[in-house]
Amino acid sequence: MEFTQWTEQYSVGDPLMDAYHHVFFQTIEDLTKSVNKLPTDVLGERIEFLMSYARMHFDSEEHLMEAHAYPDIELHKAAHRSFLEEITFIQDSFRSNPTARIAEQLLAMAQYWLSKHILTEDMKYKPYLSRDGSRKALRVQD
Ligand SMILES: [Fe+2]
Ligand SMILES: [Fe+2]
Repeated sequence: MEFTQWTEQYSVGDPLMDAYHHVFFQTIEDLTKSVNKLPTDVLGERIEFLMSYARMHFDSEEHLMEAHAYPDIELHKAAHRSFLEEITFIQDSFRSNPTARIAEQLLAMAQYWLSKHILTEDMKYKPYLSRDGSRKALRVQD
């Protein structure tokens, strides 16, 4: 499997989001490389960690979009949710049949989805981060 490396073209203009994305790619690469070496229960735990990491990142990103009054936030949230549903489906099949092959499929899908999602959807909020929309509005009140 080809691994996606985080490069400047993936930068969404926020250091924390960039760090999340970077760690995401790295974790997928590390885990894919050790798929055949790890016992399946450990592999299952690592996959679970990756999913918690994804949920944490999505929450954080959604808060950021909210803080900057990004108008298409609901569509973006729906994209996050549908990824989690899709990956949970593969995770369930790994639970009932814990093979390296299914783990690899899950990781490949996660990497493919993430790189595409960053370049298309995440990039759309980039211009809003410098606008300081709702933060300015809040300042008017104090
Ligand atoms: Fe996103
Ligand atoms: Fe993201």
